[in-house]
Amino acid sequence: MLRVAVCVSGGGTNLQAIIDGVKQGTIANVEIVRVISNNRNAYALKRAAQAGIDAVCVSPRDYENRELFNEAFLGAVDEAAPDLIVLAGFLVVIPSALIAKYENRIINIHPSLIPSFCGTGYYGLKVHEAALRRGVKVTGATVHFVDEGTDTGPIIMQKSVAVRQDDTPEVLQRRVMEEAEWIILPKSIALIADGKVSVEDGHVMIAE
Ligand code: GAR
Repeated sequence: MLRVAVCVSGGGTNLQAIIDGVKQGTIANVEIVRVISNNRNAYALKRAAQAGIDAVCVSPRDYENRELFNEAFLGAVDEAAPDLIVLAGFLVVIPSALIAKYENRIINIHPSLIPSFCGTGYYGLKVHEAALRRGVKVTGATVHFVDEGTDTGPIIMQKSVAVRQDDTPEVLQRRVMEEAEWIILPKSIALIADGKVSVEDGHVMIAE
């Protein structure tokens, strides 16, 4: 069993896709051992509770400074003893101690085709606003390992999504979720649980 901890900040539709995948068996040999949110009001926490998953909130607001928050966050992760950490709409900068400790064991979903519309300041709806502003005809989502940079780690999986002329950021966001995110994030976790994913020279190799 691959022990998975999922970090969330908001609605948790990607978390739901993972919960459903585990329940339906499309993600085999995976146990979601903990959901961690930085936001007490995240609907994702309700989704975790509904699924009977241990859910905790570690909010920066409850700590005097960033270092203390980072320590508490790292503690909440370590306590769950995960084999894999999934950032599923987690909008907090990951402490570098965590990245070092869990090298190639943290994955993130980003709502664009990296390297477009990614890096500092590109998260959530802002990504889709930028894509529409630029007028791209194709966008999508990316699952990647997390390294020290922002959205710079080795890419595991990508899926493209067509942009329509009358799209609003909200409409495009929903389509990218439905047609890409909710598919490639569960799939990436399943591949990792199957032991099929490795990183060689900074590139992801997927065994057939
Ligand atoms: C998703 O679109 C995810 O790709 C994005 O936040 C949303 C969370 O939705 N993540 C980022 O922008 C990370 N840079 P959800 O809470 O419904 O899964």
